[in-house]
Amino acid sequence: MTPVSNLAVRDVETLIHPYTDLAAFRASGPLVLERGKGVFVYDTNGKPYIEGMSGLWCTALGYGNEELAEVAAAQMRKLPFAHLFSAKSHDPAIELAERLKEMAPVPTSKVFFCNSGSEANDTQVKLAWYMNNALGRPQKKKIISRMKAYHGVTIAAASLTGLPVNQRDFDLPIPGILHAGCPHHYRFARAGESEEDFATRLAAELAEMIEREGPQTVAAFIAEPVMGAGGVIVPPKSYFEKVAQVCRRYDVAMIDDEVICGFGRLGTAFGCQATGFVPDTISLAKALTSGYLPMAAVTVSEPMYQALLDESRKIGAFGHGFTYSGHPVAAALAVKTLEIYARERLFEAAAQKAPRFQARLNALAQHALVGEARGLGLIGAIELVADKPTKRSFALKSAVGPRAVRLAEEEGLIVRSLAGDSISICPPLVIAPAEIDELFDRLGRALDRTLDWVRRERLQEA
Ligand SMILES: Cc1ncc(COP(=O)(O)O)c(C=O)c1O
Repeated sequence: MTPVSNLAVRDVETLIHPYTDLAAFRASGPLVLERGKGVFVYDTNGKPYIEGMSGLWCTALGYGNEELAEVAAAQMRKLPFAHLFSAKSHDPAIELAERLKEMAPVPTSKVFFCNSGSEANDTQVKLAWYMNNALGRPQKKKIISRMKAYHGVTIAAASLTGLPVNQRDFDLPIPGILHAGCPHHYRFARAGESEEDFATRLAAELAEMIEREGPQTVAAFIAEPVMGAGGVIVPPKSYFEKVAQVCRRYDVAMIDDEVICGFGRLGTAFGCQATGFVPDTISLAKALTSGYLPMAAVTVSEPMYQALLDESRKIGAFGHGFTYSGHPVAAALAVKTLEIYARERLFEAAAQKAPRFQARLNALAQHALVGEARGLGLIGAIELVADKPTKRSFALKSAVGPRAVRLAEEEGLIVRSLAGDSISICPPLVIAPAEIDELFDRLGRALDRTLDWVRRERLQEA
């Protein structure tokens, strides 16, 4: 496709697109969306697509929610901007902090607001450092993340991320960030290793890493309950239970990145509840406002708060915060979003729809191109492989995943291709059962067409 519409031409001349092959894009041009309603978005030609990725894992309430539009407009008229610096405050931020404290699955003393998942995770790193200085243990600063983790793109967050594309030639990671093994049984378990044994080994390897580095130098371990951008990787049974034991043993704080899994995605309010662990602190974003405006938050426990209090008393101020921390329009919108989740019992509804979603997802494992289908709740992925018995991947340059995504778009479905030819699916929580079926029907047709192309091009040959 060459960019033909006026908008497409203007785009190519003016925009740098995140996560896009900038060279290939000059020929392909963008898919320009114009409006949305329910689980559908429409391009500038009026063609409808099922938004099978909730945008970027965020529009849990789907598109065109009037209540959200109204609450934002009302707040815009009343007080469009106010900040939280220098002891200033406003209603919406206070109310949102109260709601999050009530909802949080861990004892939470205070909430710190930011605008993105990356900022939340950068804040986590800074809080861990600041807190350990306050506690008189200035050596305890290293953070352990995991291979294939995704925690964002700012300098600390991109360092936590365990994907080469986010680090290569950006001169990352920064020192003091380590990556433990990825809990993907299909790819990384040894021959004959059960899920439990794999989890035991990963926890033992984490303990070895902490011992090697010196427990007095390791501040925190950060994890997504289900890894998102790394390929929708569901941890093996008992993984978090075992990893949490290791963290406790070495006094390593657990940071829970709920940026995707929070707010019902796994069929529970928070992802840590579905995957069985109790973190010390949580990063929230995305579905906090159903993606309608940027808003993110970090939960702070009472012991952590006491340490911040001591350190800021010593220095004279807590020197961290963003102009838009707790932005009143975004905060009012988040409060309304949480109210709708509760009123419509959307987390329970997600849990009820999950078996149908997972059954349709798992059925795709039979497809000739699919090595593994995996997921939990209303999130999942299929991994495309050249050879199922050996799990051999396609050559990177064949771009089989991106082709499948393009063909899905032709079928009227938006999904996303992640590293290693995994195709992710993460529809709005409000998706109806019949729409789940329609989503997978369209994906199935796209896979059949991808297979035809793969065979024509002989891409399965080693
Ligand atoms: C688990 C996780 N953490 C952090 C981020 C970064 O969020 P943002 O893109 O808002 O900076 C993302 C984004 O997809 C994410 O999936």
